[in-house]
Amino acid sequence: MDQAQSLREYMQRFQVQKQKQPRVITITSGKGGVGKSNFTINFALALKAAGKKVIVLDLDLTTANINILMGVIPKYNLADVLISNKSIWDVLEIGTGGIEYLAGGIDLHDVPNLEQNSLGFFMNQIQELQHYADFILLDTGAGISKELVECIAASDETILITTPEPTAIADSYAVLKTIVRYHKQSNDVRLVVNRAQSYREAVETSRTLKNTCSKFLKMNLPTLGFVMEDPHVRQSVKMQMPFYLSYPKCEASKNIEEMIHFYLPGYEDQLSATSKGLRGFFEKIFSKGISL
Ligand SMILES: Nc1ncnc2c1ncn2[C@@H]1O[C@H](COP(=O)(O)OP(=O)(O)OP(=O)(O)O)[C@@H](O)[C@H]1O
Ligand SMILES: [Mg+2]
Repeated sequence: MDQAQSLREYMQRFQVQKQKQPRVITITSGKGGVGKSNFTINFALALKAAGKKVIVLDLDLTTANINILMGVIPKYNLADVLISNKSIWDVLEIGTGGIEYLAGGIDLHDVPNLEQNSLGFFMNQIQELQHYADFILLDTGAGISKELVECIAASDETILITTPEPTAIADSYAVLKTIVRYHKQSNDVRLVVNRAQSYREAVETSRTLKNTCSKFLKMNLPTLGFVMEDPHVRQSVKMQMPFYLSYPKCEASKNIEEMIHFYLPGYEDQLSATSKGLRGFFEKIFSKGISL
């Protein structure tokens, strides 16, 4: 790479585009292992292919493994920004396919003991990302926890992943019930049915959850889309390469592509106006004093 080209790339990467407010999306599930991390990275890649700038933020501390899928070994995480005054650009890694990645790692139990200066520095660093990306995708751990509920409340939108298995459907319903109980309203939750054996099975799964939510929680649960059971997903995981890159024509890649075509026009029209951005997200999370 010549000097002019690397300078151009540098400028492109660090150019701050004004007026952009990233949309913060929490990706979660009731049951573990239903495909959140794979969905997150491949959805991010499809958004990127559609011209959007995306950052994946890993908030799954217990089994943080999305970095393996992204081919990244993070040197630092957000705790280093908070405690060691590292710059946000030191933490931001570029993974496979050019997706940018931030490792979480903050224990907010320590936040009340931190100096105001450290918090101020952290917020200023986060502010730099406020106009940098279009989407921040938060990959979370499975199951209901106080942390997860607060993440959902602090983000602009939530994507709930389920599979057609009755246990996964029941656990998804439990998450939705908790969201409604704690927050009275649904804060824009959409459903993705993953690993469906057929289109019919996917439709039946989404209909079951939608009807149950409507009847018992008085909550609307729109479906973002379906991803079929596809052996290419497993093969790609083994290769440590997202399926959207290794098998762009496989069924799962096409399903994600369709979702983006359905999702993006709505985002452009109305959703971005309501985005709180990453700064808004952290302000809310910090005010609750929870761990990420
Ligand atoms: N559409 C699919 N078709 C086939 N296999 C799939 C599909 N989606 C996911 N899988 C399989 O499920 C495994 C788990 O996926 P993934 O790690 O994304 O789940 P997760 O919800 O992030 O798990 P955890 O709760 O542990 O974080 C993958 O390694 C892959 O083998
Ligand atoms: Mg995961």
